Amino acid sequence: MAKILLTGATGYIGSHTAVQLIESGHNVLIIDNLSNSKIQVLDGIERITGIRPQFEQIDLRYKDQILDLLIRHKDIEGVIHFAAFKFVAESIQHPLMYYENNIFSTINLVYALSLYPNPINLVFSSSCTVYGNPDTLPVTEDMPMKEPTSPYGKTKMLSEYVIMDTVKQYPHIKAISLRYFNPIGAHPSIEIGESPLKTFNLIPILTEVAIGKRKEILVFGNDYPTPDGTPVRDYIYIQDLARAHVIAYERLLNKKNKKNYEYFNLGVGRGYSVMEVIKTFEKVSGQKINYRIVDRRPGDIAAIYADTILANKELGWKAQYNLEFMLETAWKWEINKKF
Ligand code: NAD
Ligand code: WQD
Repeated sequence: MAKILLTGATGYIGSHTAVQLIESGHNVLIIDNLSNSKIQVLDGIERITGIRPQFEQIDLRYKDQILDLLIRHKDIEGVIHFAAFKFVAESIQHPLMYYENNIFSTINLVYALSLYPNPINLVFSSSCTVYGNPDTLPVTEDMPMKEPTSPYGKTKMLSEYVIMDTVKQYPHIKAISLRYFNPIGAHPSIEIGESPLKTFNLIPILTEVAIGKRKEILVFGNDYPTPDGTPVRDYIYIQDLARAHVIAYERLLNKKNKKNYEYFNLGVGRGYSVMEVIKTFEKVSGQKINYRIVDRRPGDIAAIYADTILANKELGWKAQYNLEFMLETAWKWEINKKF
């Protein structure tokens, strides 16, 4: 049975997508170098689906590893490329680490796919950071990519160009970039969730404060031009996001794509400020959250949220879950997580 190669899928978004692909009858092969995830994720996927996905520990920074994998697996029909380092602030402190990892990984993968003898459907994890600091909101796909405010965002933009230009020369590859906003929450079974080795994102930090692993959360600035001065983001439930990947992949598989390279925003279409998220989390969890307002975090922008009309229309996909539900699953995961 043909396989879908999922790079970086012991990670947060990839693992949730793997579950939904398996539940949709697909056969997946996960590769990951475990630089920001744990092998125990495979146990969680198996507990949910009853199927333990094939796994190989591979580092995409090394071209020979991906070339060798594709020689050994001739039955790969598609790839979803999740593997990357993803922390905006960390990328500012360590730009070369981010350019090397994220760009080399994408180039090595796409180079290997350019040599692959069969047609390939490629879905890429892009990001709203390719819009930089948008002049108007909500952001739509026909807005030009603007200079991202961090090396991380630039690696996403460059990766999109690598894929876009390769697809032009190698018509056996069809590709879709999915520009995620801020994925949060955990699988409703609480068998998998956000379980990074390094915690920089708002929601995992929030749940660690609530459970007592951290004393307080630092709120990075309340002097932004937003309703309450704290930055606004478009938070999307991980299960809504995972479902969009299955739909986008099957769009390519079933040749429903209108161009060889397409891209879609994946958000809810509304923003919440950091303080709104903290207050909503307190309501949902019943826990008082200690916070302290500090200076802005380098690389952050005031506000961004998605125009989701294109994904609604072309993919027939719309986010279903609200902020309270998302935060409830994040809290349950923090309390019950197995790894
Ligand atoms: P994650 O860190 O949980 O998962 C990424 C996975 O990639 C990890 O398991 C890591 O070990 C692996 N990896 C990293 N470099 C690798 C390499 N060189 N070779 C093999 N494996 C490697 O992150 P995530 O939140 O699941 O994000 C997945 C993708 O979505 C990333 O490309 C990220 O940039 C993108 N994205 C994430 C968010 C977000 O807020 N979480 C938003 C938009 C886009
Ligand atoms: C959200 C908001 C912080 C932590 C994410 C991903 C990144 C990229 C874009 C992938 C911000 C504030 C956070 C804290 C805080 N996605 N915050 N105190 O920065 O929007 O980036 O989406 O392409 O990979 O990380 O998400 O969760 O880091 O921050 O005040 O301790 O919460 O300033 O406004 P961000 P985040």
